[in-house]
Amino acid sequence: MLTITMRKTFLSVFRIVYFTRSSVITAEGSADAVTSASMNIHDGVTEAAAMQLQRLTGADLYEIRTERYYRNSFVGTAATAWIEETLNMRSGLAARPDDLSTYDVIYVGFPIWWFNAPMAIGTFFESYDLSGKTIVPFCTSQDNGIEICMDYIRSVSGGAKVLDGYRINHSSDEDIRNWLDRIGVAG
Ligand SMILES: Cc1cc2nc3c(=O)[nH]c(=O)nc-3n(C[C@H](O)[C@H](O)[C@H](O)COP(=O)(O)O)c2cc1C
Repeated sequence: MLTITMRKTFLSVFRIVYFTRSSVITAEGSADAVTSASMNIHDGVTEAAAMQLQRLTGADLYEIRTERYYRNSFVGTAATAWIEETLNMRSGLAARPDDLSTYDVIYVGFPIWWFNAPMAIGTFFESYDLSGKTIVPFCTSQDNGIEICMDYIRSVSGGAKVLDGYRINHSSDEDIRNWLDRIGVAG
């Protein structure tokens, strides 16, 4: 009891939550490798980034999954994601943490889809009372930096404090530590 109280009082408690297309592919069949390869698209990049961040921070790791069926081809995923983005639709979540109340700092990772975060990230944020929490976004992408989606992230994050995000695409540990130092969270 004393230990738990001290942990809550003196230490921030961290959690990493991430979404990746690789789970969609694994659940529904094999990826459209030809289309993906021709566009230099790789899968599972966000999971790798989340695992690297976990190694550096020791935060708990959780993969959120969507209810919505995304086609396993890149073109199918792109079409569905485009409709969601254009209409500001929300995909339900099949798997998300039951409770975030014991966490102070939540790293949220996702691939950039259509110059934004996937709409499922909006569903995630809107599923909790985030007042008093600190959100640390990170993304992976083919080209775009995370700045492209920060307005969206702030718009769906309720009363949370949102720190400057970072694009972790095969980044070095040093780069990630420098970012964490810059924004003032544990690394
Ligand atoms: C539907 C879709 C849309 C994408 N849109 C963008 C984009 O607008 N800008 C960009 O730089 N990358 C874009 N990408 C590339 C992904 O962000 C990139 O490959 C990411 O690292 C994939 O992460 P994952 O393997 O964890 O799903 C898109 C990928 C998909 C599947």
